[in-house]
Amino acid sequence: MGADLVIASNRGPLSFSLDSNGRAVPAGSAGGLAGALHPLLEGSGATWVACAMSEADRKATTEGLMTERGLRLVMVQPDPDTYRMAYDVVSNATLWFVHHSLFDLPRRPRFDRHFATAWEAYRELNRSFASAIDDAAGDGATVLVQDYHLCLVPEMLAERRPDLRTVHFTHTPFADPTALRVLPSAVAGQILRGMAAAAACGFHTTRWESAFRACCADMGVEPRRSFVSPLTPDSDHLAERAESAECRSAGERLDDVLQGRRMILRVDRIEPAKNLLRGFWAMDELLRARPDLRGGVVMLALAYASRQTLPEYLAYGAEVEQVARRVNDTWATDDWTPIILDVADDAGRSLAALMRYDVLLVNPLRDGLNLVAKEGPLVNTTDGVVALSREAGAFAELHDHALEVNPFDVAGTADVLARALDMAPGERARRAEGLRSVVARRKPGDWLADQLAAAVAG
Ligand code: F6P
Repeated sequence: MGADLVIASNRGPLSFSLDSNGRAVPAGSAGGLAGALHPLLEGSGATWVACAMSEADRKATTEGLMTERGLRLVMVQPDPDTYRMAYDVVSNATLWFVHHSLFDLPRRPRFDRHFATAWEAYRELNRSFASAIDDAAGDGATVLVQDYHLCLVPEMLAERRPDLRTVHFTHTPFADPTALRVLPSAVAGQILRGMAAAAACGFHTTRWESAFRACCADMGVEPRRSFVSPLTPDSDHLAERAESAECRSAGERLDDVLQGRRMILRVDRIEPAKNLLRGFWAMDELLRARPDLRGGVVMLALAYASRQTLPEYLAYGAEVEQVARRVNDTWATDDWTPIILDVADDAGRSLAALMRYDVLLVNPLRDGLNLVAKEGPLVNTTDGVVALSREAGAFAELHDHALEVNPFDVAGTADVLARALDMAPGERARRAEGLRSVVARRKPGDWLADQLAAAVAG
């Protein structure tokens, strides 16, 4: 019997790596979208269609290791070249950059024969997903398609299976019409028509929803319905993890490192939209402007690697290390390092740090939502202040209680950090409570329920 509920996303809930003996072993946390959806769907009985992204994933699939409690996992297994072109060239190096407005336009993008081949690979990958969903979904099932990797799936499914109720949800920002015009018109048209064939298209904020509708209007595409539903972290799951031995011992190690100093924290993947560089330059400006803070405050940057096959990400990662080093060379003393950059992927340590920050700096250039901005207030126990980019989707919900950051304004960011550090205890407590109550207003299940409702209403 086919499933009543099918989720489709490029990255699935489990990922594997190969150990030194060539055995497939579970890899670290997925982060991003898959990490957020996993606790939500665990035990739900849904079928999750995802891609075997690496040789290790393919091996694990063949060996029957891709199984998860109360979930049926179906793995799409494209050939590695097709996958690399679809994921690296189209999804990550093109669509992701379009939606984040991050192209270095004098150089990129370049729509040449190489891109045309990659676009065919993207179409092929979307077709493989549509076919796997077709096989997995029961009559009249609801299908929740996630993100920019799978924009063509709703239209492909509508052609094969008109009985299905398909929703497409975008976790990134959405390009406005001017930014989308960078794409070849045929490509932009296929993307918009592909998504618009869904019963409904969902976004984290009205801003991204309006941009999608404006792009559709610009290209004469008529979406059936769109809706806004911000995702929210699972507070019970976070509280449980905060109690774990792993998190406690990570917390003790952090206390040793900080030695009672105040902490400006950031927790990000190393990706160009996260704006780590301007965060470090803002720390430099802060220390220049405020000699009284030297020696007494640390910027802890927990930043873990992402999309290491893209040259833009590798170059950005190198620059992040270089700028942190430069700021430290300017200000460090024998017993104080102003920026502690730690690039190990350690979920326990990230959570322990979120429990302890004085200031949480979330300054992306553009971000679909930013879950860290919501996780922080839920677990923080020190009335920490959130300094939040107005370009993050989460700003729409948190702006009353966070301090607003213009992510491009380094001096302005330094001023916001100073204001946060100087804030009187009463105001800190009021803001922290305000953030907690806004975040706690929604449960992760609300996001899922909104998609299910949109599937029916559409
Ligand atoms: O950080 C959010 C995000 O960009 C999602 O929109 C997307 O699905 C996810 O990251 C993809 O990350 P990865 O390429 O590591 O699977």
